[in-house]
Amino acid sequence: MSELMSKKLKECYESDFDDTELSKKIFGTWTTYEEDINAGQWLAPVKVAAYVQHNFNPDVSIGDIACGTGLVAKLLKPGFYTNIEGYDITVEFLEQAKEHYKSTTYNDITAEALPKQYEVVTASGVFAPGHLSASPSKNIADSLLPGGTFVMSNPSNAHGHALIPSDYSYLETGGWNAQNDLTMIYESDPYPSLLHNGHQHYHRVRAWKRAKD
Ligand SMILES: C[S@@+](CC[C@H](N)C(=O)[O-])C[C@H]1O[C@@H](n2cnc3c(N)ncnc32)[C@H](O)[C@@H]1O
Repeated sequence: MSELMSKKLKECYESDFDDTELSKKIFGTWTTYEEDINAGQWLAPVKVAAYVQHNFNPDVSIGDIACGTGLVAKLLKPGFYTNIEGYDITVEFLEQAKEHYKSTTYNDITAEALPKQYEVVTASGVFAPGHLSASPSKNIADSLLPGGTFVMSNPSNAHGHALIPSDYSYLETGGWNAQNDLTMIYESDPYPSLLHNGHQHYHRVRAWKRAKD
C-alpha cells in the first residue's frame, strides 16, 4: 500500500470542508493517484458510472464534477457514453483527463455552476469529509437541465471506516439534510469502495433531482 496514499487520505480527512487551495495542493502533488487507488480497488467511479449506464442511454449529456484523472469517463467509454465533459480544480489532473472527455475545463464548483447545463451531473469521490460539503448544492442544481439528475458517491460508516467515527453522518455534517436545492431520489446500499492499510472503506451512491422541478 502506498505511503503517499495514506498521507494524502489523512490530509484530506483532517482538513475542513470546501478548502479549494488545500485540495489543489493535495491532488496537484499526488503523482501516483490512479496507481494508488487502483491498488486499493477504488470503486466509487465504477458505481457512479454503473448508475448512469443503468438509468440513461449512451447519448445522455454528462458534466463530470471533480473529474480527477478521468476515471468516470474512462469507465463509461466502453458503453459508448462519450457525450461527457470533465471539470476540476487540479490542472495536473485535467491534463491527464483530457484524453477521456469531449472537453476538460477548470471549474471550482464551490464558486460557480458549470458553464452549461447537462442531463446528468456526476461527482465521484469529492463529496466526503474533508472534501466538499453541500455548499455547492445550488451550483449543482443550476448545472442540471430541467428534469436532470445529479449522481454522487459518499463515504459510509455503516460497516466501519478507518477515518471517520462510527456516529458520523456525512449527509448531516456536510449540510445535505439542510439544503433545499436538490431532492434525493436514490440511495444505494454501502459497497466496498477502497482497501486502505488493510481496512475496507465503504461508500454509497446517491442520486438527486433539482428541487424546483
Ligand atoms: C478523490 S479525487 C476524485 C477524482 C475522481 N472523480 C475519482 O473518482 O477518482 C477528488 C477530486 O476533487 C477535486 N476537487 C476538490 N475540490 C474541488 C472543487 N471545489 N471543485 C471541483 N473539483 C474539486 C480534486 O481536484 C480531485 O481531483
